[in-house]
Amino acid sequence: MARLLLRGFDIRKGYLDVAAQTSLIELLRPILKAAPLYRPVTPSGKEMSVRMTSAGALGWVTDRAGYRYQDKHPKGLNWPAIPDDILAIWKDLTRAERQPDCCLINYYGEGTKMGLHQDKDEADFSWPVLSISLGDDALFRIGNTTRGGKTESIWLSSGDVVIMGGPARLAYHGVDRIRFGSSRLLPKGGRINLTLRIAT
Ligand code: SIN
Ligand code: MN
Repeated sequence: MARLLLRGFDIRKGYLDVAAQTSLIELLRPILKAAPLYRPVTPSGKEMSVRMTSAGALGWVTDRAGYRYQDKHPKGLNWPAIPDDILAIWKDLTRAERQPDCCLINYYGEGTKMGLHQDKDEADFSWPVLSISLGDDALFRIGNTTRGGKTESIWLSSGDVVIMGGPARLAYHGVDRIRFGSSRLLPKGGRINLTLRIAT
């Protein structure tokens, strides 16, 4: 496993081997059944290209009313629990005393992206954010803690885990594009990103 530091983003290339990636996908199947992926709308009314759902006590949602955490799926369903194997990754890599209360699940299909943004809907930014990449490669862009300025990009592959903590916690980041079909982990292609956060 290679460790890379890019602008304070702690990137663990190949943290999960193929067997671990496959077993995570199996764990996600019942979650996606119980709390189906949906296409969210930004506060300005734009449909996002990624599809989204969550596990945990809270899910991150967006619609015309704004960005927020809430205890129900937009369809009124309960969010499923975060599987222990995912909590174990958080514990191993963050050593935080608290467990995450949200596991956001983003699905990137062909032609999707995620604009540069900060993760700032949480109550306490001293907790890190942990992000797990599964499936197709993604071109991940890292900016600064204020809007604008130079950015740097890195390809994230299936099994890579990124920890955003300390000064990097509020850095802008996003996904420019994915290399659709570059991985065989998901039978229909695409990428799943799991973002673990302590929201409250
Ligand atoms: C996000 O920051 O919301 C997603 C990051 C990623 O997909 O790698
Ligand atoms: Mn983010």
